[in-house]
Amino acid sequence: MKAIELSQYGPPEVLQIKEVEKPVPKDNEVLIRVHATTVNFGDLIARNFKAVTPRNFNMPGLFWFFAKMYFGFNKPNVKRLGSEFSGVVESTGKAVTAYKPGDPVFGYPGQPMGAYAEYLCMPESGVLAPKPANMSHEEAAASAYGNIMALYLLREAGIQKGQKVLINGASGSIGSGAVQVAKHFGAEVTAVCGTAGLDYVKALGADKAIDYRREDFTESSETYDFVLDVLGRVSFSRCKKVLSENGRLQYVSFKMKQLLQMLTTSIAGNKKVVCKLAPGSVEDLKAVKELIEAGEIRAILDKSFPMEQAAEAHRYAEEGGSRGPVVITLT
Ligand SMILES: NC(=O)c1ccc[n+]([C@@H]2O[C@H](COP(=O)([O-])OP(=O)(O)OC[C@H]3O[C@@H](n4cnc5c(N)ncnc54)[C@H](OP(=O)(O)O)[C@@H]3O)[C@@H](O)[C@H]2O)c1
Repeated sequence: MKAIELSQYGPPEVLQIKEVEKPVPKDNEVLIRVHATTVNFGDLIARNFKAVTPRNFNMPGLFWFFAKMYFGFNKPNVKRLGSEFSGVVESTGKAVTAYKPGDPVFGYPGQPMGAYAEYLCMPESGVLAPKPANMSHEEAAASAYGNIMALYLLREAGIQKGQKVLINGASGSIGSGAVQVAKHFGAEVTAVCGTAGLDYVKALGADKAIDYRREDFTESSETYDFVLDVLGRVSFSRCKKVLSENGRLQYVSFKMKQLLQMLTTSIAGNKKVVCKLAPGSVEDLKAVKELIEAGEIRAILDKSFPMEQAAEAHRYAEEGGSRGPVVITLT
């Protein structure tokens, strides 16, 4: 089979098509013919992890160290990227009961990645679910990672009907899921993103869109019950004035400073800082599938590239401001 692999860290050109052995599913695994995968934040960072320092890493230093151990210090241990996909079950291990050959599925292999290949094995109990019936493979591939993170984080935050919610980083994978999930919970949603993503976030259902390059939302007279900051770009001291009486600022990406602020604001003050990790679970993927089929979550793709143009896909995703998912097709 063909796979997109990297043998060294670096620019998009390190992604090369290789002829490799087709995997064989273990007893508890399904072999999936991958039809589409995406270029997301994790793929871009894992392709050039050598350049990631504790300072420019979006999470605490200890997380950086463990990520570095996993992905490799100077050479990539993870050679096949791709943390979300859509495809069709080709064959199953003998202990598998939930899936059979021919079933369309979508999923999130997460940190082990591996979806940049024509075939992928995943445990039947992995983050895998039947593909939403109303989506193409390209749309379904782009609907796993960001939506399961967003659904978990906003459900845990207890977003209520009528609340005012602001998503900072709304045009990326988690942000676009968060805009739609917050609308599903009945919130009034303000989406903050770059210029290129303004029409995209409005098309996803945002009530208002703010270009962070032109306007600082913390300087506005609006207040919000809940602010979700995807990349951890806004400080609590700045955000405080736009939080309502018992408002919360939740960081999806955070450092030690924000963890300490979570501790101190949990003891004193009405306005809170929250830092939370989403597990990326199969239950959430199944819930996302239901929301997609109910028309509550949709995928508006930016651009699709064939696997032979994986390097171009990475360059495009890296250079352009986010205006929807960038997809790689493998059929
Ligand atoms: N807490 C958890 O459990 C969890 C789980 C997974 C990932 N993460 C973290 O989430 C982050 C990745 O999220 P993602 O996949 O959604 O990323 P993404 O797809 O790259 O999206 C990032 C978004 O942020 C926007 N942005 C960039 N600079 C900004 C600024 N200064 N102010 C406001 N918005 C800005 C981008 O818009 P433009 O492109 O237009 O600039 C884009 O909309 C990583 O830091 C990762 O570590 C956390």
